[in-house]
Amino acid sequence: MAANWKMNKTASETREFISKLVPAVSNKADVNIAIAPPFTSLMVAADELENTNIVLAAQDVFYEEKGAYTGEVSPLMLVDIGCKYVIVGHSERRQYFNETDGIVNKKIKAAKKAGLGVIFCIGESLEERDAGKTFEVLLRQTEKGLDGIDAENTVLAYEPIWAIGTGKTASPGQAQEAHAYVRERLKVLYGNRADEICIIYGGSVTPENVDSLMACKDVDGALVGGASLKVESFVRIVKFREEK
Ligand code: PGA
Repeated sequence: MAANWKMNKTASETREFISKLVPAVSNKADVNIAIAPPFTSLMVAADELENTNIVLAAQDVFYEEKGAYTGEVSPLMLVDIGCKYVIVGHSERRQYFNETDGIVNKKIKAAKKAGLGVIFCIGESLEERDAGKTFEVLLRQTEKGLDGIDAENTVLAYEPIWAIGTGKTASPGQAQEAHAYVRERLKVLYGNRADEICIIYGGSVTPENVDSLMACKDVDGALVGGASLKVESFVRIVKFREEK
């Protein structure tokens, strides 16, 4: 269960949030939990998350190790402050910052080389879904994004763009259909090792719909935006099984 805070929360708000979250989920040994705060909160979050069952993730990374790239952050910088994962290829990065499949692939390669796990996002727009191109888009993004990438520490996030931040969640049937398709493609790419890749769902996940989404056979977790900004609602999402 991963929280993607996007451009929300200052460093002091991050400290306050995590100090409340840690005791609320400390007995949750059967769920992997990750928090992805903005870059400016990573140090504070790393400090608060030390010796807890929650791992630190970044929301983006650049593909070069160092150099004259004003404003960018390298994989090694993230590793050095305690990040274990990084989100790559989020649709907001693709849409607002012109990230192509090729750039996403370079970022995944660089992150992996530095020892980071990757939460790799794919998903179709409403136009693509309406045009019957969902599988085509998922196939292209998966094959290009994962070209030359090993299965280890790779998490794939299926995030239909029309469901992100809209309150319009994919139905369990729609999520399952897409996840099963991606699972099959991963088997072609990785053989038996495909099972090592968790496929998580993102797009308006809330305490109200998490149980039905998690009941889908091929939904292994969730990438949560809006509903991860409040401690109670993220805790409820993390504890989905207990309260089913
Ligand atoms: P949302 O965002 O939960 O606010 O829809 C999910 C995401 O973009 O990762």
